[in-house]
Amino acid sequence: MNGIKIRGTGRGLPGRLVTNRDLENIVDTSDDWIVSRTGIRTRRYCAPGETLSGLAASAARRALEDAGVSPAEIGACIVATLSADTLVPAAACLLQRELDLPPDIPCFDLNAACTGFLFALHTMECLLNASPRKFGLVVGAENLSRLINWEDRGTCILFGDGAGAAVVECREGWPSISAVTGCHGNDALLRVPGAGTGERSLISMEGTRVFKFAVEAVPWCMDQVLKKSGRTAAEVDFFVFHQANARIIDLAVRKYRIPPEKYYKNIAEYGNTSAASIPLVLSELREQGRIGPGSRVLAVGFGGGLTWGGCLIEFA
Ligand code: COA
Repeated sequence: MNGIKIRGTGRGLPGRLVTNRDLENIVDTSDDWIVSRTGIRTRRYCAPGETLSGLAASAARRALEDAGVSPAEIGACIVATLSADTLVPAAACLLQRELDLPPDIPCFDLNAACTGFLFALHTMECLLNASPRKFGLVVGAENLSRLINWEDRGTCILFGDGAGAAVVECREGWPSISAVTGCHGNDALLRVPGAGTGERSLISMEGTRVFKFAVEAVPWCMDQVLKKSGRTAAEVDFFVFHQANARIIDLAVRKYRIPPEKYYKNIAEYGNTSAASIPLVLSELREQGRIGPGSRVLAVGFGGGLTWGGCLIEFA
């Protein structure tokens, strides 16, 4: 199988900035508690009129521009999300119309919660191997603010909205991204009920138990990706972690002795944006010139499902 590389990235962020102090006016919490337990200081919410599809389109347009690829060259489009504006049509179908992507390509949404973007990269690698077009559009986008349970102070402070996108390219002879993906069917630890359950469609989570799962899943995924790719941690230029809690990242960094210049946290600014978190990091790093052509990035994610995943992806 031929591998994919990232050619361009972009992001789309909503306009409403919400600080921990703002949340102090809504729930019984404090800036100190939120910062010390999670590392989050602010998050962004969609303002009235802003939509997930709009954020996804902004991120995707920037990624196409960054990659120097035209919509007509795209062979597949996947939006990783758990919070699309509509279940049907999928956000990816609306993106097809908005960006004028070719009509004869697969465009669909993928829900693997916070691991969605990595599941989508893996899926895209498979799809592009079977496509005559060599570029793919992978977006992670969330509008989680509308799913927040304001009666649960343990979860309402965590989440934010946003979108990140990557244009990937598939070429003969390129190494596979060595994706590792998995799930334990678990509907107790992290849940957003859908229509038909009779429950309110709001996020509920057993935070401490999810934390324990994440702390084990992250190094496990890193080990598996390195093993599958035949690379060592020293050969990785940058480590990108799902931004769920700064303490989870700190534990992984300590375990692998990753130096500060090789990893990044933007959770303080955006909170947990689920499927958008990894592409948001990629897009900021690329803009700052910290990753670019030739960089080898190990990305790891985990989330509801429970799902986990990792891959080693290079930049074209
Ligand atoms: N403000 C102030 N106090 C709060 C609070 C808040 N927003 N939320 C909870 N507390 C209180 C609790 O009521 C509890 O008080 P008590 O000891 O008097 O009962 C105390 O803080 C500790 O609560 P706990 O839930 O045990 O905290 P924690 O250390 O586990 O941190 C999370 C909570 C959610 C930050 C943490 O568990 C976490 O990040 N989990 C992983 C989440 C994750 O990764 N989710 C996404 C997967 S993609």
